[in-house]
Amino acid sequence: MTPYPTAVGSNTTATIARYGLTESSLRLLGKLFKSGRIRPAAPRRTMDAKPKGPRWWHGATLYQIYVRSWRDTNSDGYGDLPGVIAGLDYLQWLGVDAIWLSPTMPSPDEDWGYDVSDYLGVHPDLGTLADMDKLIAEARQRGIKIVLDLVPNHTSSAHAWFTDARSGRESAHRGYYVWADPVKREGEAGGGPPNNWRDAIGEPAWTMDDASGQYYLHNYLPSQPDLNWWDPRVHEEFRDIIRFWFDRGVAGYRIDVAHGLYKDALLRDNPPLIGGGRLDGGFGLRPVYSSHRPDTHGVYRDWRKIADGYSPQRLLLGETWMGDLGVLASYYGQNDELDLAFNLPFVFAEFNSGALAGVVDETLAKLPAGASPVWTASNHDISRFPTRWGGGDERKARLALLVLATLPGTTTFYYGDEIAMTDVAVPRELRRDRMSPGVGTEGRDAERTPMQWDASPSAGFTAEGVTPWLPLGDNAHRNVAAQRDDPRSTLCLVRDLLSGTDETFFQTVSARGSYTAAELLWGHKFTNIFLPPTADGIVRIDLRLIDGTEPAILPEIAPKS
Ligand code: GLC
Ligand code: CA
Repeated sequence: MTPYPTAVGSNTTATIARYGLTESSLRLLGKLFKSGRIRPAAPRRTMDAKPKGPRWWHGATLYQIYVRSWRDTNSDGYGDLPGVIAGLDYLQWLGVDAIWLSPTMPSPDEDWGYDVSDYLGVHPDLGTLADMDKLIAEARQRGIKIVLDLVPNHTSSAHAWFTDARSGRESAHRGYYVWADPVKREGEAGGGPPNNWRDAIGEPAWTMDDASGQYYLHNYLPSQPDLNWWDPRVHEEFRDIIRFWFDRGVAGYRIDVAHGLYKDALLRDNPPLIGGGRLDGGFGLRPVYSSHRPDTHGVYRDWRKIADGYSPQRLLLGETWMGDLGVLASYYGQNDELDLAFNLPFVFAEFNSGALAGVVDETLAKLPAGASPVWTASNHDISRFPTRWGGGDERKARLALLVLATLPGTTTFYYGDEIAMTDVAVPRELRRDRMSPGVGTEGRDAERTPMQWDASPSAGFTAEGVTPWLPLGDNAHRNVAAQRDDPRSTLCLVRDLLSGTDETFFQTVSARGSYTAAELLWGHKFTNIFLPPTADGIVRIDLRLIDGTEPAILPEIAPKS
C-alpha cells in the first residue's frame, strides 16, 4: 500500500510527480490531515492520478454517453452503438478511461431503456449484440473500458417474467414481483392499495391486476413493475445476467436505483417527510420502507465477489439516491459492496466553496479507508451543470470542470460537459420523457438533447434533413469541432485536465502559457496564490479564496508571452 502523503509544502512538486496528485488534491488532503480527520497511519485514499492495477477506476475518468443522443449512423434520428464506435477516437483524444452507456437492452422505452424487456440483448434501435462486441473490442484497443447500465430494481411490464407472472397466481414467475391483496381501510367501500407508497410521478405505487385481483408494486411507472428480491430465483437470474456481460468483456455496471432492491417485508406505510429535500423523499413521504432496506447490502456483497473474481476487477457503481452521506458510504460496506456510490449531495450542493467543500470533506471522512469517492455534476436525470450551477456563464462551467477534474477519486462526466453544453428548452410538443411529473414540470429532455459535434444544421449528430429524436441546442455556437481548433476553449481545458498524468497536464499548460486565476471554489481550503511557471516547468493552479461573495474568476489560458 502506498503511504499516505503527509507533507504538503516545499516538496509538493516531487509529491505530485510521485503520487500523481494534483496540487489541489494535495492541499485538500493536507487540510484533512491537519484537521485530524485522517490519521497518518491510515492507508491513503485512492487518489491515483490515472487508473492503474486491478481497481482501474481509482483516479479514472468515466464518461456517460446517453446513446440515443450521441451519434446516429443509420439516419433514424436516434444515436446508436455504431455511433458510439465512431466517437471512440474523440474520447481517446479527450483522455477518457471508461464509457458508461445509458441502457442498451431491449425495451419498450416507456422510460427510455430503464424498462428492460430482455437483459441479455441489445435494443434493436441501438444495434446488435455484434455491435456491442465490436464496441467493446474497439474501445479496448484505445485503452477505454465499457460499463453498462443495469436495472435490477424493476423490469418492463413487457418482460417475459412479468407476462408470465401476470398470467395467474400460480404462474412460475409470480414470485418474481411484489403482489399484494387489496386492503380494506376504515370508511372505505372496497379494498385499496396495501399501503401509502407513491411512484415516481406521485401516483399510488400499486396497480390493480384485474385478472388476479391483486395489486403489483411499481416505484416508477406502472409499466416498470418492481422485482421481488425476497425471491432467491431473482438473485440467481441477476448473477447470470451480470456474468453474461462480464464474460463478453464489459468492465462493470452502473446500477440503476441501487438503493431500491429490497422492500419492507411487511409493506408498512412510509412516514411523512418532515423537512428534508429532494434527496430525502417526495410527495410528502420519506421512503423508509420502500428503499435503503438493510437486506439490499447482501446483494452487493454477493455481486462484489463475482466482480472481484474477474481480471481486471469489474466495477460496481451504484445510483444511490440519498441525502445522508453516512448512508451513502454504507453502500461501500467494508470495501466489500459497491466500489463506487454516486454522490447526489455533491450534485445538488450550491455552487460555492463552502457548500461543495463541506460535501467533499464529509464524503472523504465517511468512506471506508481505501475506497474511492466518485464525483459527478450532470447526468440524464438532472439539469446540466453549466445551466444549473453556471447559469449559462461559461467561466463558471470551466471552474466546475477544473474542480471535477482535480478532486481526488473517480470523476464522471456527462456527454457534452466538456464543451459546457447547457440545457435545451424543449417545447412541450417535442418532449419525450414520460416521467416528467415526478421530476419537475420541465421533465428531463432538456439535458438529453443530441451531442453538438459541429455547426452544421444536423450538428454532426445525424444526416442532413433527418429530424433528431430531440431538438438540437445552440450547436452553431457551441460544438466540438470549433472548440477542438481553439486552444483556449473549454474542450481543450478538459482535454488538458484529463490527458496523460496530472504532471503532464501541468507541463502541457506551462508549455502553452498558464491558467490564471482559477479561484473561488473551495479555495478557502487553500492558501496558495497563483505562481507563474517555475524553472521546473510546473504551473500551480490558484484555488485561493475570494470568500464566496465575489463572482468567480475562471481559468483561462493566457497566450504565452
Ligand atoms: C434511475 C434512472 C432514471 C430512471 C429511473 C427508473 O433514477 O437514472 O433515468 O427513470 O432510475 O429506472
Ligand atoms: Ca440510429
